[in-house]
Amino acid sequence: MTVLHYAEIAKDVSAMTVKPNLLDIERERQGWSWDRAKAGLDLPNGLVNQAYECIDRHAAGQRAQKHGMIWEGADGKVERYTFAELKRHTNRFANALRTLGIKKGDRVFFFADRIPELYFGVFGALKLGAIAAPLFSAFGPEPVRERVQRAEGVVIVTTPNLVAKVNAIRGQLPSLKHVIVIAHRQGKPVASGDLDYQRLVDAASDQFEIERTGQEDWSVMHFTSGTTGMPKGAAHVHGAVLGHLATGKYVLDLHDDDIYWCTADPGWVTGTSYGMFAPWSNGVTNLIYEGGFGAAKWYQVIQRHRVTVWYTAPTAIRLLMRAGAKVAKQHDLSTLRYVMSVGEPLNPEGVVWGKEAFGLPIHDNWWQTETGAIMIANYLSMPIRPGSMGRPFPGITAAILDDEQNEITAPMVEGQLALKPPWPSMFRVYWNDQERYNSRFKRGWYLTGDKAKRDADGYFWFVGRDDDVINTAGHLVSPFEVESVLIEHEAVAEAGVIGKPDAVAMEIVKAFVTLHDGYEPTNELRRQIMGHARERLGPGVAPREIDFIKILPKTRSGKIMRRLLKARELGLPEGDTSTLEED
Ligand code: PRX
Repeated sequence: MTVLHYAEIAKDVSAMTVKPNLLDIERERQGWSWDRAKAGLDLPNGLVNQAYECIDRHAAGQRAQKHGMIWEGADGKVERYTFAELKRHTNRFANALRTLGIKKGDRVFFFADRIPELYFGVFGALKLGAIAAPLFSAFGPEPVRERVQRAEGVVIVTTPNLVAKVNAIRGQLPSLKHVIVIAHRQGKPVASGDLDYQRLVDAASDQFEIERTGQEDWSVMHFTSGTTGMPKGAAHVHGAVLGHLATGKYVLDLHDDDIYWCTADPGWVTGTSYGMFAPWSNGVTNLIYEGGFGAAKWYQVIQRHRVTVWYTAPTAIRLLMRAGAKVAKQHDLSTLRYVMSVGEPLNPEGVVWGKEAFGLPIHDNWWQTETGAIMIANYLSMPIRPGSMGRPFPGITAAILDDEQNEITAPMVEGQLALKPPWPSMFRVYWNDQERYNSRFKRGWYLTGDKAKRDADGYFWFVGRDDDVINTAGHLVSPFEVESVLIEHEAVAEAGVIGKPDAVAMEIVKAFVTLHDGYEPTNELRRQIMGHARERLGPGVAPREIDFIKILPKTRSGKIMRRLLKARELGLPEGDTSTLEED
């Protein structure tokens, strides 16, 4: 039997003011049909376009004058857009792209903060059938170059405060034809050679006939990290919206009058699947907050906009815990009825703390860039076992496999977490990397790369990753990407990068470097290398700690043994070192 740190949190559905959309996970599972779930979409003439399903169909119906988007800027300015207005804004941008010669399948990158035009832009690109690829605005030039180059991006849409990073690399991007700058919010001029977003959309019609996209046509691309090599571009299709609609309804429990806030940035798949597609395919008012984290600031946002459903992340919850439940109680958060979290393991303490601070436990759920939508969840109506990711979504089969991909049925035995393909929101390819895509599927399973256990009642428990990918504040970082930038520094001979456990961010990026002859391991040099990494990679990806070491442990074939570095860092047994390089 499962050992629980905390007692199971039972739910009294009859006491809930809003009746949950999913009442009985077992019954829903038995009767589940993705085809039936399609009834919640329009699918005109059998076609499917995410922008149509999320915006245009609401603009044509009873929700036309409903606010689809409430936006609050970092400076507190609030703007509201009805579905009808969202339709016109996205149409204009789609027309602008078309005028520039952008076609179905072209990759359009977005490198901007969470401003309304980012959202208009992504949906405009989707209307045209282009592939929308949003990037974190905190990225330095190097991650932007790597991603745009890998996907042969044709357009980058950005803002004046970020354009210098684009300028630093654009000479290395032969595929790039246009840089569109959203300048009007910052009151800055657009450099000659670049295109002014506002002028483009002002000149464009607000009528647009959506490209005839089908279920398998490309929609968005997100880059995710792997153990070896550079980040991979996981490409998704328009048919994925069925997964967003269904999980929006049954996991996020969205109802028509909800005010929903997802704190994730669209540079991360949570910021598109659940910051755009799930709320809007369900016709729900979606709050977008441009600003960064701050306990009081966030509670004010909830209070001001009367947020009812809130989707956030464990690092944020740990920071809120650190600020104390008292800060929560100083605000009127009484509209909140449901809080969820994703991206890293949520400590059982976090789940329970939600009760103390908001009177609501926090519901953890699990998924990945590749899965496109939530796969395992704690549902509003289901008892929570704090520390567990919950149970698979009704249309999803999840299993724990041994090293030969046989299913482990015994409870609480650790193995690889796997999912039975296909499902609507599943990624269809790693862009230009079929081999790595294929390697994720074995013996009829999609291998997630996570280790987990399942208890006797079908709840899944996260154990850890099965690879070297670092999870820092919910964002995956590829050690290889960081190592590649570190060794660009003239003093660095070799670099090995690991995730060092951290009480708030789960892991921080830590580097071990060896130096070329003639360089001394001084604090000044450490600062220089750190500065180089921050400038090239951006603060979210660059190492927070750098240690100088004499020799990096390697296998006989020359691969850096990151696991050994980590074991040493943690003071753990080093395990089998027989494949180590001899001195
Ligand atoms: O290792 C798991 C961790 O984050 C990975 C997916 O990250 P990414 O592709 O960036 O997906 C973002 C969408 C959530 C997983 O393979 N992870 C995600 N959710 C959880 C989690 N680890 C533990 N518990 C979770 N709830």
